[in-house]
Amino acid sequence: GIDISSLRSTTGHITLDDGYGNTGSCQSDVTFIDGEQGILRYRGYPIEQIAENSSFIEAAYLVIFGKLPKQDERDNFAQALADNAPLHQSMMKHFDGYGSNGQPMAVLSAMVNSLTAYDPHVMHPADESDVFNAAATLMSKVRTIAAASHKTTIGEPIVYPRPDLKYVENFLHMMFSTPYHDYEPTPEVVRALNMFLVLHADHEQNCSTSTVRMVASSKANMFASASAGISALWGPLHGGANVAVIEMLQKIYDEGLDPAVFMDEVKDKETGRKLMGFGHRVYKNFDPRATILKGAAFDMLEKMNIDDPLLDVALKLEEVALKDDYFVERKLYPNVDFYSGIILRAIGIPLDMFTVMFAIGRMPGWIANWKEVHEDPKSRIYRPRQIYTGDVENTWIPRNERS
Ligand code: ACO
Repeated sequence: GIDISSLRSTTGHITLDDGYGNTGSCQSDVTFIDGEQGILRYRGYPIEQIAENSSFIEAAYLVIFGKLPKQDERDNFAQALADNAPLHQSMMKHFDGYGSNGQPMAVLSAMVNSLTAYDPHVMHPADESDVFNAAATLMSKVRTIAAASHKTTIGEPIVYPRPDLKYVENFLHMMFSTPYHDYEPTPEVVRALNMFLVLHADHEQNCSTSTVRMVASSKANMFASASAGISALWGPLHGGANVAVIEMLQKIYDEGLDPAVFMDEVKDKETGRKLMGFGHRVYKNFDPRATILKGAAFDMLEKMNIDDPLLDVALKLEEVALKDDYFVERKLYPNVDFYSGIILRAIGIPLDMFTVMFAIGRMPGWIANWKEVHEDPKSRIYRPRQIYTGDVENTWIPRNERS
């Protein structure tokens, strides 16, 4: 890294960079992106190789701890995840309060923050082993919370985690098993969900990750920082786009809309519409995650013998967009959210859980970025400046004289 302390200044001119398009907020060793060429690497390893070879747990270890784990390191991490899966019994009572109308992202953000109350040592991690335990706790419990909030929403009893199951299998068990039926996932489902999570594991300084770093910079704990990341992810311009894409595809399908006519509405700025799942701040070429997910969606639907009409709508929209000057000139291509929903639907994940799935996947990236801030002795609180545009000076007016 570069020693930037000599460049620090709190006086003088302020740079205004709307939406931080060209502002580097930190130095990081975690993820490399070349947006012009569509390259994504975690810790230097190409995303294509990781997606092909890695389980989510192995990719998470790489992202969080900076190296591919040896067998014993991987086993140790997997064991820590298995050990930390259950929630404190009194935390389970929170779910009764949310009931069936609980928005899963609201529940997740609140419950992840609540974890601090049950694990207070996370407030002051003393050494690497405390950070390791906090990371394993967070990665493991976020999955238990997600599945329990789904069960609460559909009015079924919460299913407890099983210590003998692997990460993804355990999540599917908690999501889909019932008191009268043990869910057994097919290898295609396990593979597809691992890949989905691997592809979401980190993406450098996106809105939610920079939120995590912002909160971490005040020395807030890992759980509180991740909870803020979940809230940032929720919006439809970020992780919430995976819900918005399916709603868009479903509307086009249900109403029999002509994709070309739909595109005219998207291009008309007056409508305020966007082609959800298209465009990216950094990628000005194909998002490599979208390329992998598109291929995986085809494979999975074929192996599971599923005919999803929304995939056809998505393909048609992509075909129209890639030939349209509006999209070509602005370099708008499918992003990670365009095809991911097709895979989640095939697995049987309900739409209101899509952004929660993204949050489970992004947890390693948030933890790795929190860790970088926490472990940097020179890290200082994030505190951007502004250009003030309000009244320069007013004089107090008594209430009965105000117009
Ligand atoms: N549909 C139609 N037009 C678009 C789209 C889109 N999806 N995305 C960008 N544009 C247009 C903008 O209107 C703008 O046009 P203009 O130059 O005529 O004003 C131009 O392309 C540049 O777009 P910006 O909004 O400046 O791009 P920005 O980097 O600020 O936003 C974003 C990126 C938020 C991803 C945007 O492309 C978008 O809203 N996409 C749809 C939502 C989405 O899919 N979000 C998920 C992103 S990936 C993730 O977070 C996981």
